[in-house]
Amino acid sequence: MILNIEKQSPENQVIDGVSALIGNTGLIRLSKLFPDKQVYGKLELMNPAGSIKDRTAKFIIEKSLELGLIGESSLIVESTSGNMGVGLAQICLYYGLNLRLVVDPFINQQTLELLETYGANIEMVEEADASGSYLGTRIKRVEKILAENPNAFWTQQYENPLNPLTHHQTAEEIVSQLGESPDYILAATSTCGTLMGFAEYNDQIGGKMKIVPVDAYGSIIFGGKAEKRVIPGFGASKTSTLLRPELLESPMWMKEWESIVGCKKLLQHEAILAGGSTGALVSAVEKLKMNPDEKAVIIICDRGERYLETIYSDEWIEETFGIEILEKINRKVNEGLELEQFN
Ligand SMILES: Cc1ncc(COP(=O)(O)O)c(C=O)c1O
Repeated sequence: MILNIEKQSPENQVIDGVSALIGNTGLIRLSKLFPDKQVYGKLELMNPAGSIKDRTAKFIIEKSLELGLIGESSLIVESTSGNMGVGLAQICLYYGLNLRLVVDPFINQQTLELLETYGANIEMVEEADASGSYLGTRIKRVEKILAENPNAFWTQQYENPLNPLTHHQTAEEIVSQLGESPDYILAATSTCGTLMGFAEYNDQIGGKMKIVPVDAYGSIIFGGKAEKRVIPGFGASKTSTLLRPELLESPMWMKEWESIVGCKKLLQHEAILAGGSTGALVSAVEKLKMNPDEKAVIIICDRGERYLETIYSDEWIEETFGIEILEKINRKVNEGLELEQFN
């Protein structure tokens, strides 16, 4: 077979700097995985540091520079053990800004090494708070850094309105790539920035998109009691001031094993290696009852490489959830999902 590859002139392909590569990600139809449904994946794993948080970090830093809130002598501070840290490390390195990240011992070793390699300054808290989580201790440490450094600037992803504002563009890209608004967008919840960005955009354009939050059992974003969760990216043990539930559909709660099923199915059918929040969205959209003419978009939130020793390791799954869950996951992946319809 002769492949006809159209070559563009180099002038059309060259852009200036890694920051310009963030966003404008691809949108693909997931037709092998969902042959009977119109489901599309927004490939946020194409961002240069690997996740949707590249956008948030870039937008907050660039807007804050533009507004004069930060400058070359600023110390950027955030409490994060995950993708926001990596996104900030990338963009702060690019702009030559000092970055201090407050992390805790639950941080994945590979992420820690990645953050250090990007040149972030890491402060590890050691003491858990009364609830057994490190969240309170991390926030206290951030407050101490702010008190000690007059040039410190906290990006505050759980409260900063620039976080959801970032995703007006993500939503605009989806609508433009699809040629119309999808009927549904399913987004994972943590700070609720992605979710609320889509919802605010939809509200502003007077749209009819249904924005569906996909949360984890044991997360307290929409109420309830915090329970132990091991898969990062969906669910939080703190509420977000960004959340406006009146703009959203009812949440779909997913179990962690369902997120693993989703990850493995996405890999098997579409050859896409993604993280746990994406897997939760895959399983959620499978449950969503849609008419044949309706379209749903899920966010492929981050790359799967950092989960090779967890989500993609049967040993880890067995150790963490037990042999019965491992067998159930593999049965569901091999036999197809038989999840009951959600609505
Ligand atoms: C992999 C992944 N998916 C989804 C999310 C949720 O994004 P948001 O914080 O916008 O709710 C995050 C947040 O860190 C994430 O890391």
